[in-house]
Amino acid sequence: MTIKNICCIGAGYVGGPTMAVIAKNNPNIKVTIVDINAERIAAWNDPDLNNLPIYEPGLADIVAETRGENLFFSTAIDAAIDESEMIFISVNTPTKTYGKGKGMAADLKYIELCARNIADVAKTDKIVVEKSTLPVRTAEAIKSILHNTGNAINFHILSNPEFLAEGTAVSDLLNPDRVLIGGENEDAIAQLANVYAAWVPEDKILKTNLWSSELSKLTANAFLAQRVSSINAISELCEHTEANVNEVAKAIGMDSRIGPKFLNASIGFGGSCFQKDILNLVYIAKSYNLTEVADYWEQVIIMNDHQKRRFSDRLIKTLYNTVSGKKIAMLGWAFKKDTNDTRESAAIYVADHLLNEQAELSVYDPKVSKLKMQSDLNYLNTRSESENETGLQTAHTPYEAVKEAHAIAIMTEWDEFKSYDWKAIYKEMKKPAFIFDGRNILDKKEMNAIGFEYYAIGQ
Ligand code: UDX
Ligand code: ADP
Repeated sequence: MTIKNICCIGAGYVGGPTMAVIAKNNPNIKVTIVDINAERIAAWNDPDLNNLPIYEPGLADIVAETRGENLFFSTAIDAAIDESEMIFISVNTPTKTYGKGKGMAADLKYIELCARNIADVAKTDKIVVEKSTLPVRTAEAIKSILHNTGNAINFHILSNPEFLAEGTAVSDLLNPDRVLIGGENEDAIAQLANVYAAWVPEDKILKTNLWSSELSKLTANAFLAQRVSSINAISELCEHTEANVNEVAKAIGMDSRIGPKFLNASIGFGGSCFQKDILNLVYIAKSYNLTEVADYWEQVIIMNDHQKRRFSDRLIKTLYNTVSGKKIAMLGWAFKKDTNDTRESAAIYVADHLLNEQAELSVYDPKVSKLKMQSDLNYLNTRSESENETGLQTAHTPYEAVKEAHAIAIMTEWDEFKSYDWKAIYKEMKKPAFIFDGRNILDKKEMNAIGFEYYAIGQ
């Protein structure tokens, strides 16, 4: 089998950038990304590259270079499956919101639908690649569905977890620390390795068994999230002592065994992966009765929830124990800088908490739309949609957000926030003017010199 056509089911934050980079580096392979969401596909095909559904630095350039050449976006799922030798499954696997494993286990219904779709349509042998983050042993389930179709076709299932981080997806894909391929069939593994070998050095392409590959993805995310919760736990201790969490992070990060990355104390981690993957890990451990293992990892999430909660509690307490009727400017809504993704963003939970206390929110984010903010809040189901609309106003500029505000809460570490005219902002605000810096991006001395009452995490 030679790979001439690749199909990717799911045109999201993972499928879109990953396939664009594969297409760029493999001009001889036709890559088709398909999705059931016609609106999303239309946005990927929009001649104006500013309208792509996903914002990632550098992505629009690659799409401009490859789209219509060997990269295609389509809703014709069956046709793309039919013509491809290799099919990536890159659909969403949210945490279950119903039934057994509710709030813990991954909902695999979209994966199963894909597997059944492939089984129905395929007329020739296929390599099926799991790209979505999945619980360990999902490949087994996919295999079972595919192999029981009775079409007498060979399906080879591979696990190829994605390690890109949003906001740096393109550079992570172009220069990955490693590419991981898990599988049983050596030829299928070699075929996928070949696709990556077009730009990734061979020694960075790791081959493992299916389950090691699946578990490595969950483990990597659990370790990264654990680092954030660890430094956040220390940040609370710092706030009760004279220690400064930035100084502690620098001091421990210089230990080569610890390393400096992922030690930024924050308002709490967000994103589609960390919480979901740890919950998966906890669920799997519980299903094997590994109570201590489950409890150990669950604590990472408990700490993260605590960090989000105590940020809003501190803000309310500092504003003389009430924010009722007070304007609070929130800068940032995305779960991190350089992305328009808001899944599990700490900002959503802080906003919800402040709205419970009858605050009047004015939010500015350079890349997140009003519609997205409202739907994030509505999804929590805490109050009516109209109450959310009244309570949360979206500002078109940061200066509009801060006008007459009692306090500013920095939710996302967007670079542009650092270069604002903070003196001008101070003048616009009610006094005393408070800043709660959930990302530690501003300088305390500078802010105090302007006149702000400045509170950061762990200081
Ligand atoms: C993560 C993994 O990094 C990536 O390998 C995997 O493929 C998907 O999940 P992502 O969620 O896109 O990527 O972003 P990441 O940079 O890991 O940040 C996750 C969250 O942790 C963000 O909310 C970020 O602000 C927060 N964070 C990160 C901190 O609060 N402090 C840090 O030091 C690092
Ligand atoms: P991720 O961050 O994992 O990429 P996203 O939610 O951004 O997650 O993208 C997943 C995409 O998968 C969505 O655009 C969704 O419409 C698509 N999808 C889900 N199920 C199917 C399916 N059965 N067939 C085709 N596309 C699907």
